[in-house]
Amino acid sequence: MSSSSFPPYFPNSASINSSGQLEVGGYNLVDLASRFGTPLYVLDEQTIRETAQSFKSALDKYYPNNLPIFASKSLCLQAVFSILQQEGFGLDVVSSGELYTAQSINFPAEKIYLHGNNKSLEELSMAADYKGSNGGSKVILDNFNDLELLKKIGKPVDALLRLTPGVECHTHEYIKTGHLDSKFGFDLDQIDDAIKQIKSISNINLIGLHAHIGSQIFETSPYQDAARILLEHFVKLKEKYGYEFTELNVGGGFGIHYTEADDPPAIDDVIGKLTSTVKSLLKEFSLGEPKLIIEPGRSMVGRAGVTLYTLGAKKEVPGVRNYISTDGGMADNPRPITYQAKYSACIANKANQEPDTLYTVAGRYCESGDVLIKDINLPASTESGDLLAVFGTGAYNYSMSSNYNRVPRPSMVLVHNGEAEIILQRENLEDLLRNDVLPSRLAKRREAVH
Ligand code: LLP
Repeated sequence: MSSSSFPPYFPNSASINSSGQLEVGGYNLVDLASRFGTPLYVLDEQTIRETAQSFKSALDKYYPNNLPIFASKSLCLQAVFSILQQEGFGLDVVSSGELYTAQSINFPAEKIYLHGNNKSLEELSMAADYKGSNGGSKVILDNFNDLELLKKIGKPVDALLRLTPGVECHTHEYIKTGHLDSKFGFDLDQIDDAIKQIKSISNINLIGLHAHIGSQIFETSPYQDAARILLEHFVKLKEKYGYEFTELNVGGGFGIHYTEADDPPAIDDVIGKLTSTVKSLLKEFSLGEPKLIIEPGRSMVGRAGVTLYTLGAKKEVPGVRNYISTDGGMADNPRPITYQAKYSACIANKANQEPDTLYTVAGRYCESGDVLIKDINLPASTESGDLLAVFGTGAYNYSMSSNYNRVPRPSMVLVHNGEAEIILQRENLEDLLRNDVLPSRLAKRREAVH
């Protein structure tokens, strides 16, 4: 397999060496697994940087007044934030934890946007207090509760209003957020009431509108439709209330390849079409150019991630299927059990062998549904001790991981130019007990038993 024939879900730096072993970031995955253990999240810096550069250069080419912001819920780690800051990105955060992570590396405050459908007073205060020489963090107003809490906080904050535009997109039902029956954002018929309240709260400075239509989207037209609805509201709110909005945020959701069957558009293509719609609408509505914000998460880091597992037990159910078990599963990657998400994989130490035998890759967790990949072809020689590399695991894997069955979470290593650095420590058994409190009266009883 030459690099030009590599599948589209491989990280950009992937290669196969002369011994048939898969390498990422110039590092042999077999060596990486023996150095750091498995399960292991591997993150390819080159893929993240090149993807960020693709978004940024497409935006700069078609619409220079732009700010891409990384949806940090997809992978919240200081190293990732730092790389994306260097690439000119801002951040979308949805909790004090994500904001705190950004603050810990002095991420520029004015490039941070706080989202959430139930933000706490503490979270809103934290955002209102986070200021730098170029301004403070911004808040996306999701509902009337946000308005009341910000009024109570009383500190000046720039804000965008999140609308629920009612745009349909063909994606998994659980992750649709832009349709009408959504917990997120103001319905279009609530906007007038919201604006009246905002007008009466002197510390809220409304600078723009936001919509997010869903996730893992392959079409461009839902973005174009959402942009039209947002810009129609730019006009309405200008005519009715005199607003001259300076920020237009069309959300994230750009799809990626998990398998060959996925069909996401090229970044340049989706940004080109979206910006051309925005520009023609601005002309049609005689509006000035607002800053265009996009919020990609999955598409920034998804394909940069590969998870390595050591294969263990095999079980053949005659005439039904061949199970092979990994040392991880639904706790480090909850997406298959949650969304029936599909993944691709190969045996990293046999990457040049023909995958001609059907397997079902099971996780190690005590749940029948803990199956990472149902029906995948792997080499006939696949055996216990082999190293399985699952692709496309950079987004929403670690960030949605758990300690189910009290299993410590894996570590994550960042690979680049033949170097590997830990960016997330592997949890140990002590870590699992850190917040587990045994009341002293029970401890006494235990002593009494012994
Ligand atoms: N902006 C907003 C307001 C969002 O709610 C989201 C994702 C994004 C941006 C980023 O979307 P992305 O570019 O990553 O698709 N856990 C699910 C995905 C949930 C997405 C939630 N919101 C999964 O694993 O597929």
